[in-house]
Amino acid sequence: MSPLVPHLILYLLLLTVVTGEILRPRFYSETCPEAESIVRNEMKKAMIREARSVASVMRLQFHDCFVNGCDASVLLDDTPNMLGEKLALSNINSLRSFEVVDDIKEALEKACPATVSCADIVIMASRDAVALTGGPDWEVKLGRKDSFTASQKDSDDIMPSPRANATFLIDLFKRFDLSVKDMVALSGSHSIGQARCFSIMFRLYNQSGSGKPDPALEPAYRQKLDKLCPLSVDQNVTGPLDATPVVFDNQYFKDLVSGRGFLNSDQTLYTSRETREYVKMFSEDQAEFFRAFAEGMVKLGDLQSGRGGEIRLENFEVRSDPSAVELGFLRIEMDWQGQKLVEQLMQILLVIAGVVAVVVGYATESFRTMMLIYAGGVVLTTLITVPNWPFYNLHPLKWLDPSEAEKHPKPEVVVASKKKFSKK
Ligand code: HEM
Ligand SMILES: *[C@@H]1O[C@H](CO)[C@@H](O)[C@H](O)[C@H]1NC(C)=O
Ligand SMILES: *[C@@H]1O[C@H](CO)[C@@H](O)[C@H](O)[C@H]1NC(C)=O
Ligand SMILES: *[C@@H]1O[C@H](CO)[C@@H](O)[C@H](O)[C@H]1NC(C)=O
Repeated sequence: MSPLVPHLILYLLLLTVVTGEILRPRFYSETCPEAESIVRNEMKKAMIREARSVASVMRLQFHDCFVNGCDASVLLDDTPNMLGEKLALSNINSLRSFEVVDDIKEALEKACPATVSCADIVIMASRDAVALTGGPDWEVKLGRKDSFTASQKDSDDIMPSPRANATFLIDLFKRFDLSVKDMVALSGSHSIGQARCFSIMFRLYNQSGSGKPDPALEPAYRQKLDKLCPLSVDQNVTGPLDATPVVFDNQYFKDLVSGRGFLNSDQTLYTSRETREYVKMFSEDQAEFFRAFAEGMVKLGDLQSGRGGEIRLENFEVRSDPSAVELGFLRIEMDWQGQKLVEQLMQILLVIAGVVAVVVGYATESFRTMMLIYAGGVVLTTLITVPNWPFYNLHPLKWLDPSEAEKHPKPEVVVASKKKFSKK
């Protein structure tokens, strides 16, 4: 049995080298056992200071993970040669509570310096936001690395506008391997938090260019919104996303059923046939919503840089982070299905090689034969899974036409900041 030990070590080593980052629960149990309780404690403090802040932090997971994977790129400020994501169309004057993440980072640095990534902080904090406001609690997978770079353009191209309809959202989430049910459940995140009048002005006064409000709005609710957001309003004024904005519950779905969804992208989930059944189900069965939501958040947290390689590679070379270069090389432009296939293939091949080696080694009573067969298996596996072979790219990602970005309501500030950079 003892020859199995070196196998296991070799196997684990190879697994780590080839996949780069493996996410798993209790990743910091040795290096920073207090990590999860520190994060929860800081989130509690933040919630006491301002109830809304935990919702704002939870939103960061969505905006981080959808844009080149969960790598904390959303937290990076602009630099002279990089336009960060903070000022992207969906984020500018909208994403907030970055200081909560800073506080968490500070507390973690004190307890265990240079150990916990910001990408993992966002994931833990989002889970805590939900658990602390009455929603489900779940185990998070950890072990993410932080990105050195961010892409405003990618954020602009990917993040959905509040005008989006259900069909569009279904297609968008599908690109990230998220099902219709995942999408509807994840939209239930809007059970906590607020949105600006800016995000609904078109809906109240000129839905689809009709010059009229969205007919799906329940009249009394529409009057309420008209009052909150009159045409002359400061569009930074905010209103609650559902009737119970500091409690994570299924009220959001009940509101959608009665035509009281705040955003167009919310209400469309009930007006559309493809998603209505899920909205109904979640509005009647909170436990089912909680299950689906936790599952969706874990899947969202699993997103790793899908096409980041091309952008990251050059930045990583400049910054010379060897593990990152390797990851960039391995994963460059490989599609999601390809990445999954690679991981499965690698595991299967290594197990087969191990089994064959042990059986033959045992039969021939030769340790050398066993090691040789296994080494051969490892070489073969490497040849099959390390290069980015064409058959890993049979499902190319179809990214949004950049013109989609035009459909986002565009604050002037974005244009101003772009000008500033193009002048230099
Ligand atoms: C399905 C597509 C989605 C669309 C179109 C969308 C859009 C929006 C918009 C427009 C706002 C208000 C922004 C503002 O007015 O400043 C908002 C707020 C929010 N979103 Fe989403 N969102 C989506 C999915 C998600 C997901 C998947 C999550 C989390 C997992 C999330 C979490 C939040 C939270 C918590 C808020 C409130 C933030 C606060 O109070 O600061 N959203 N979303
Ligand atoms: C949904 O939105 C997309 C893109 O914005 C548009 O092409 C499509 O016609 C819309 N579908 C419906 C049913 O309104
Ligand atoms: C409504 O939207 C349409 C198309 O986007 C635009 O042409 C029209 O001027 C808008 N009407 C008002 C009152 O803003
Ligand atoms: C909201 O506030 C920000 C910062 O104070 C300002 O730059 C922006 O123009 C305001 N946006 C709107 C839509 O009024």
